[in-house]
Amino acid sequence: MYTDFTFSIIKPNAVRTGKTGPILAMINEAGFEIAAMRMVRLTRPQAESFYSVHKGKPFYEGLVEFMTSGPVVVMILRHENAVEQFRKLIGSTDPSKAEPGTIRKLFAVSVQMNAVHGSDSVENAAIEANFFFSKVERFL
Ligand code: RTP
Ligand code: MG
Repeated sequence: MYTDFTFSIIKPNAVRTGKTGPILAMINEAGFEIAAMRMVRLTRPQAESFYSVHKGKPFYEGLVEFMTSGPVVVMILRHENAVEQFRKLIGSTDPSKAEPGTIRKLFAVSVQMNAVHGSDSVENAAIEANFFFSKVERFL
């Protein structure tokens, strides 16, 4: 069992267009273990808080609008070196720069609607996982 974990969101554009299953299949095939998972529609305060590091940036308001536009799937994923490995699996923020075979290359439709979120550090993975899941909701 892995002790390292990351936190991920399947974003509204991907859920809306039926990509949840294909994205979960890629996550599974890459060897990640799902330790927690739930479908949820983010409230505005939740989305604002989740992306508060981007407050004041030109894309912030649109990002909050987008992330609250429909249900998302939130997950804790376990793997060796989970944060770094998952960022590799999802690819660059801008899908036009994402490497072939990455989730964003396959499922992103724009920089904003880029299909998935993955924590950018071990510290943020813990903060984000705690934001959405209590201890009793985590398995493995
Ligand atoms: P994420 O946090 O969602 O995993 O994405 P990331 O680390 O690759 O990118 P980040 O810089 O943290 O940006 C967060 C999300 O904001 C949207 N964004 N839009 N229009 C733009 O220029 C722009 N830049 C960022 C994307 O949805 C990005 O994933
Ligand atoms: Mg980020």
